[in-house]
Amino acid sequence: MPKNIFAEAAEGEIFRDEKFLYPEFVPERLPYRDAQIDEMVHAFQPVLKGGKPQNVFVFGASGTGKTVTVKYVLRELEAFSNRAKGLYLNCFEYNTRQAVLNQICVFLGVPVPRRGIATDEVYSELLLALKKADFVPLIVLDELDQLMASNTASLVLYDLLRVVEFQKSRLGIIIISNDESLVAKLDPRVRSSLLHNPVEFAQYTPVQLKEILKERAKYAFNENAIDAEVINVAAGHAAKNKGDARLAIESILRAGRIASREGSSKVQVSHLRTAFDSIHSRALDKAKDFLDLNEKNILKLLCEEDGLVSGKLFAKFKKQFGEKALTQRSFRKKLNRLESLKLVKMEAVEKGIRGRTRTVKLAQGKKEILDTIG
Ligand SMILES: Nc1ncnc2c1ncn2[C@@H]1O[C@H](COP(=O)(O)OP(=O)(O)OP(=O)(O)O)[C@@H](O)[C@H]1O
Ligand SMILES: [Mg+2]
Repeated sequence: MPKNIFAEAAEGEIFRDEKFLYPEFVPERLPYRDAQIDEMVHAFQPVLKGGKPQNVFVFGASGTGKTVTVKYVLRELEAFSNRAKGLYLNCFEYNTRQAVLNQICVFLGVPVPRRGIATDEVYSELLLALKKADFVPLIVLDELDQLMASNTASLVLYDLLRVVEFQKSRLGIIIISNDESLVAKLDPRVRSSLLHNPVEFAQYTPVQLKEILKERAKYAFNENAIDAEVINVAAGHAAKNKGDARLAIESILRAGRIASREGSSKVQVSHLRTAFDSIHSRALDKAKDFLDLNEKNILKLLCEEDGLVSGKLFAKFKKQFGEKALTQRSFRKKLNRLESLKLVKMEAVEKGIRGRTRTVKLAQGKKEILDTIG
């Protein structure tokens, strides 16, 4: 009888279970993050005795484990007690005041229609739902930078903080950002109550990255399928790239897949080197699912001709995509958003009597951008 095609594919298998290397996987242990975990435990533990949680501001560079550590702490808290529940919101996905409030309502068990209802009505629903809730919600706003345009972050935080202040409801806020100065940029009304518990995530050292990788690889790969040398090179590469653990983990995942496809019995450094080339920058990776057509079109124009003055870029945009595609004001907003996503850089240039203008430059590689946005 011929072999089952899956049995054949499983033979000489590299992976025990590759899910241990997925970006959304939350491991049982997070080496080198004990201090940060302790700080969060300290901030949330009053909830266990019927008290109020403290708000937390988590900051640090990309790939330092902020998201995974917050998710881990909330998972532990929920497993230990039913007095608190975490809601994780990524502000790339929920990037308006209404979207955030809606999600919190849904989380509290009052689904609200996505459209056709005023934000203030959503807020009233939220207040009612909070009064009835039999647990304390801990709301995580990851990538809060994405709400900084038009003061949205301050408005949302004010909404949530005044619930605590005036309604005497209990609720905790956890903000996550790459930018240490983010809270200082918020409205003074919300700033002070978010500054008490800053939790810093420092970059991992090469040795730390190696240990983290070893631990994750132990679960993901079959015994002897990956050499210490591969782990060392992956850790070294990530260390050179700002201590980004995501890069380290993704590179061994991809190397493992390449090795599997080649029918190799082991992951080799050559597989890893191929994997390095296929990994996109973090900025593109984060933004890719949340770009609209106009934003993609602006990037495409810049791929054709980089470093244009914004006025010229707008003229080119109109010529190619129609006069009505975007107003100048909306176009400017799109550029600001692309800048906040770290996909373009804008530089002010002095320009005679017409005052200051800006040149727009790609902040990521052209090929990488085109590969990602298609
Ligand atoms: N101490 C650790 N132990 C095991 N895995 C870790 C550790 N720190 C980070 N990771 C893993 O590294 C990857 C990146 O971590 P995470 O997404 O939490 O970074 P981040 O700080 O949120 O980055 P960004 O600012 O880009 O969102 C994830 O796959 C995560 O599971
Ligand atoms: Mg994160």
